[in-house]
This record gives sequence, C-alpha cells and structure tokens, in this order.
Amino acid sequence: MTTHPASTDLTTAGDATPLGLIAAELTLVERRIQELASSHEPKLTQIANELILSGGKRVRPALSLLVFRAAGGIDPTDTIDVGAALELIHTATLLHDDILDSGSTRRGKPSPLARHGIGMTLVTGDFLFTRAFGVAGRFEELVVGWATDACVALCEGEVMQRRFKRNPAATLDHYLRIAGNKTASLFSQAARIGAHFAGASTEVVEGMFRLGYELGLGFQMVDDLLDVLGPEELIGKPVGSDLREGAPALPTVLGLQLPAVRAAFTTETPSVAAVGSALDALRSSPVIGHVRRLAAERIRSASGQLALLGPSRFRSALADLAEDLLARTA
Ligand code: FPP
Ligand code: MG
Repeated sequence: MTTHPASTDLTTAGDATPLGLIAAELTLVERRIQELASSHEPKLTQIANELILSGGKRVRPALSLLVFRAAGGIDPTDTIDVGAALELIHTATLLHDDILDSGSTRRGKPSPLARHGIGMTLVTGDFLFTRAFGVAGRFEELVVGWATDACVALCEGEVMQRRFKRNPAATLDHYLRIAGNKTASLFSQAARIGAHFAGASTEVVEGMFRLGYELGLGFQMVDDLLDVLGPEELIGKPVGSDLREGAPALPTVLGLQLPAVRAAFTTETPSVAAVGSALDALRSSPVIGHVRRLAAERIRSASGQLALLGPSRFRSALADLAEDLLARTA
C-alpha cells in the first residue's frame, strides 16, 4: 500500500510487515480503485475519493492477496481486481451506513454525509457499488455468487443491527449474527475467493472462508472495544459513538447489567454525562477483559485454519496480520 497517502502502521511497505510482502500487488489494487472511482461527473469522483483516500486499511484486498499467495497462486491479476471490487463495496457500505446512522465523522474527518448531504452520499455509494459489480460480475458464477452473498449479508447485518438499536434484549448470539453479517461476510468471501483463484482444493477454500469469517468477527470485536477505549485519533470518530447511537456493540451487550450502560443504551438521546458514566462503568468492569478474550479466541481460531496451508512467508504474514488486528487494543 505504498501509494496510499494515509496508510496506517498495518500497511507500511517493506517485507518486515505482513503487507510488505504484497506491496506491489496492493499498489495495483490502489490503481484499479482509482480507475473505477473515476466518473465523467467530477463531483462523484471527488466524493468517492474523499473517502477512498482518507486512510482505509485495505484489509479486505490484503486478505485476498495474502491467501492467494499462501495457497500457491502465481498470477494475481484476478485477485487484484476482486480486491479492488471488495474495497469499493466496503466503501459503498460506509457511505450508506453514514446515512442510516446519521454519521457525521468518518476516519477522523467530517463524513461525506456531513459535507455533501444525503442525496450525493447515496448516489456516490450506488456508483461505487455498481463499479464494483462491473468488475466482480465478470468472474464465474460461483465467485459472483460469493460476492452477492456478502452484499446480501451486509444489508441483513445493517437491518438486524437497527432492529436491536437501544434494545436491551440484545444477546451475545444476536451480536455474533450482526457482526457476522456486517463485517465477517466480506472478510470471509475475500479469503475464500483468494484461495479459489489460487486453484486450492475445496477443503482449503472453505478453510480460508472460515479463517476470514473468524478474522472478521475478531476485527469487529476489537473495533467495538476501541469505541469504548479510544483514543479518538486512532478510531477516527468520537469515543462512545456506539453507545450514543444505541448500537448493540459487544461491550454494551456484555455490559447491560451495569445500570449506567443500560441507561445510556436505552435512552433515545443520552446526555454527554450519561454516555461518560456508561463508558467509565465499562472501563472499570470485567467487560473489557471479556471482550478482549472473545476477540483473541476468534483471532486464534482464524490462525488455526492456517494449518491447512503449507509453510510460507505468506502464511506467516497472515498469522502476523491476524495478530496485528488484535493488537490494536493491547
Ligand atoms: C458499519 O457499521 C456498517 C457496515 C460495515 C455495513 C453497512 C451495510 C449497509 C449500509 C448495507 C448496504 C450494503 C451495500 C452492499 C451497499 P457501524 O455503523 O457499526 O460502523 P461505523 O462505526 O464505522 O459507522
Ligand atoms: Mg455507522
């Protein structure tokens, strides 16, 4: 990801980091994203680029590419295309998600919604989603079906999350279904497609699907934890956003027995003080350790699937990537 201006520490070039091994491929993903995000209408290109160039980690394309290489793939052309498509789908969902959540901050900056309003944010999401399927739709039916499954799951995850908004009946099982749909869906299909393009056996392809799924769940759990712990500069949005929005995030669901958490979560517009008290209650409770343990279990389970692959630098990089995603909360 050497060309990406706002790269994070996960994406530094050079063989010393997990993504350094695929830096050249990630540069090509970046180029493809730029081509696809370009429109005859300058406003569309501008809004798309404001988000695309705002510091995304490119985890989904990186996962596809690392799995592809670790499974013995030689020519990454198709995986680069799919990686670009998955990143554009992800970007489209963020644009639409900000509309649904009235999100005013995204990656540390005013969101496209805050800058350009609902209409332009909606149509820019549609544009990127359509461009993504213009690429992904060229592959065989199986791959198109996997990409479609991910997008259906994304929609279902978003709607289920809204169903449990400010709802104290939310349980860990509900949470796992929501996170499985809204986050693990794209991760799992990214890894599965990478293995498929490498010509891996069905056993390996499905093992990589599980790897991506577990990694996605762990990633979302860590994200939810960071929303409680901050700092704001790392998470790119105000600390406590999930509680303020009434989102059934993992720390909230596990902390519902704490009166301050239940009160902030179930109140339509909680005050700053109410959110602050809920965050304090969570931070000084065993919930933080519980969330960390659950995330670590998922990351360990993801890494367990690596035994299906022969040893290689790419397999080690996948293990390192998994650990890096977890270490964000250390
Ligand atoms: C972010 O969750 C939201 C998602 C990852 C999924 C959003 C899905 C949709 C809007 C459905 C539309 C789908 C397509 C295919 C265009 P969050 O609100 O918990 O995270 P945040 O804190 O980053 O906003
Ligand atoms: Mg949101």
